Amino acid sequence: MKFILPTAMLMALFVSFSQTSCYYDNEVDQYGVTACDTTAVSYANDIAPIIQQNCVACHQPGGSQESSAMDTYDNLVNFAVSAVDRTNGRGNLMPPSGRMTSCNIALLEAWVNAGMPNN
Ligand code: HEC
Repeated sequence: MKFILPTAMLMALFVSFSQTSCYYDNEVDQYGVTACDTTAVSYANDIAPIIQQNCVACHQPGGSQESSAMDTYDNLVNFAVSAVDRTNGRGNLMPPSGRMTSCNIALLEAWVNAGMPNN
């Protein structure tokens, strides 16, 4: 009986540890940064480059989806909430070629949840 409690605690610790390590995304992004830090997301430094690389080929004036242009801050704010849905696969997945990295998706979502600061 004496061993049951410590064993249960160890298992709980192990489970919470493995969940933590799954929660954080260690993918290397385009700048070679390994951690996915969603605590202070910047439009200029984080969001604009993600949208530029993954979305504006179609979503810009003159592109195939110019009615939902996202090439500037003012254009993006109109579609950012739907963009979070689409990049998560709710509705047709965006970009159509395949899911972005989970870090990019998390950054976009964090920025929208922060009220889309133009920072
Ligand atoms: C290869 C072209 C292409 C790329 C790249 C692309 N999209 Fe799209 N997107 C489309 C097309 C086509 C539609 C219209 C059909 C539909 O709604 O699924 C669309 C529609 C959308 C809509 C709905 C717009 C509306 O009028 O409500 C959103 C939001 C969206 N895309 C977000 C994104 C985001 C965010 C990215 C980048 C992560 C992206 N798309 C990349 C082609 C693209």
